[in-house]
Amino acid sequence: MGSEPADPGEHDLGPVTGYPQGEPVAVRVGRRRLVLIRDGEQVFALRDACPHQGAALSAGRVVSACRLRWEDPRWVQTDLRAVQCPWHGWSFGLRDGRALFAGEDPGARVRSYPARVAGGRVRVRVER
Ligand code: FES
Repeated sequence: MGSEPADPGEHDLGPVTGYPQGEPVAVRVGRRRLVLIRDGEQVFALRDACPHQGAALSAGRVVSACRLRWEDPRWVQTDLRAVQCPWHGWSFGLRDGRALFAGEDPGARVRSYPARVAGGRVRVRVER
């Protein structure tokens, strides 16, 4: 089994084994503050600032959640994983940063960054 060549547009954030399962970890990529979450075999990277009042999502927790669409009660998305803000509980999907619960602002979103594990190392793409 060969290892994938490094993508020059990605940042190497070290061995995946250095990240605990299901716990948000604050990381820096250049001047950006990200929260990195290892969940099962995958890793996810989001901006480490809640769009509500700026709390660090890295101080929050990972939860299981579902997404409902109120105008169509038949529509539901389940088995989502999210990070929950430690201050007021807003939650954002790990995959896309879209709000799963955001009080009066259901369209809230936190920026997400492409992240993956390659050759046992965490790689994140952050455009300049
Ligand atoms: S600062 Fe995150 S929910 Fe209020």
